[in-house]
Amino acid sequence: MKVIKVANQLEGAKVAFDILSEKIAAGAKTFGLATGSTPVEFYNQVINSNLDFTDKTSINLDEYVGLDGSDDQSYRYFMNQHLFNEKPFHQNFLPNGKATDLDAEVKAYDAIIDAHPIDFQILGLGANGHIGFNEPGTPFTATTHVVDLTESTIKANARFFDNEEDVPKQAISMGIASILKSKSLVLMAWGAEKADAVNGMVNGDITESLPASVLQKHDDIVVIVDEAAGKFV
Ligand code: GLP
Repeated sequence: MKVIKVANQLEGAKVAFDILSEKIAAGAKTFGLATGSTPVEFYNQVINSNLDFTDKTSINLDEYVGLDGSDDQSYRYFMNQHLFNEKPFHQNFLPNGKATDLDAEVKAYDAIIDAHPIDFQILGLGANGHIGFNEPGTPFTATTHVVDLTESTIKANARFFDNEEDVPKQAISMGIASILKSKSLVLMAWGAEKADAVNGMVNGDITESLPASVLQKHDDIVVIVDEAAGKFV
């Protein structure tokens, strides 16, 4: 696990963008993408670059159950706003939050991931160490699954909604086993509220109670943190 400390999010996004550019030059065609506030500046850099994604595929980590792409709190909407509307891809996959048969949806999403092996995965980090929506306790062997969100994640994500009650209680998330299959990964974390999770991820035991700790097993992962998130590493 290579850890790079930067002064701020803008500098960190540039580091991530440079890694992305290298991977594309080396032939990367399929990109695992994340939502949340963490990658926003990185997506801005992608939008403002001359990188061409019209022959590339994206596969997002997760989506809220019950929200469709026109809902402004859905992750599909977020990705359209922050990247896809400005940077067209050949195809963009996200789980379908409105699927009536969630079992069929998770199987279909696994088939999509199998058919398009991910070359480069972007990750944020939950304050409790979650990646995607793989909450503490999720087996490392999990593939795509339906998640009951923890109280702390619902509270953390309430800032994007009008009321905490509006935050969906479930999500569909790519599993840890699938995330680990990506050829390369970049995880970004900003701010003091991520410092304990970053410390556990980098220096702690590999444990299902801190899902991101499993990334220690991957041989091509770069962790980019600002001073506050990286204060213990
Ligand atoms: C959400 C997302 C994660 C994201 C995390 C951190 O729960 N499912 O993919 O990494 O929260 O969010 P933020 O980047 O806003 O801190």
